[in-house]
Amino acid sequence: MKHLESREDIELLVNSFYTKVVKDETIGFFFKDIVKVDWDKHLPKMYSFWETILFGQMSYKGNPMAVHFPINRTEAMEKRHFEQWLKLWKQTIEENFTGQNASMAITKSENIANLMAYKMEMARKL
Ligand code: HEM
Repeated sequence: MKHLESREDIELLVNSFYTKVVKDETIGFFFKDIVKVDWDKHLPKMYSFWETILFGQMSYKGNPMAVHFPINRTEAMEKRHFEQWLKLWKQTIEENFTGQNASMAITKSENIANLMAYKMEMARKL
């Protein structure tokens, strides 16, 4: 199994992940119906996001939390959605990669997803 070590690896990971996401019954509708995602724009952002997290490339300049608040106002982003997101992300990593960066991609995603889930829940109580 391959190590997760280049921009090309990240592109493969992110593309395979969103292929699963759009087909998914629990979270696919966020990307297809709630936000009609422009994939030509979204995918390169996600490559840069993960490149920044895993390789310290600093190619992503954005605010990942901020973009999710308006989505959460249209349709509640709940714990079960984040759990499904994480399940698909872990599955995609484990199907394709091994090693330290692969493990880091899982750990970081868990931390971000848990923080995001908490922030979305708090925002709904305001
Ligand atoms: C149920 C869980 C999630 C859903 C439904 C979701 C949905 C979305 C959608 C629809 C967009 C695109 C917004 C647009 O094109 O205007 C987006 C962007 C993004 N998401 Fe998520 N997301 C989820 C969880 C996560 C998690 C856990 C992470 C990080 C580990 C993440 C990172 C990002 C980033 C970096 C962007 C791009 C932000 C930017 O435009 O700079 N998302 N998300």
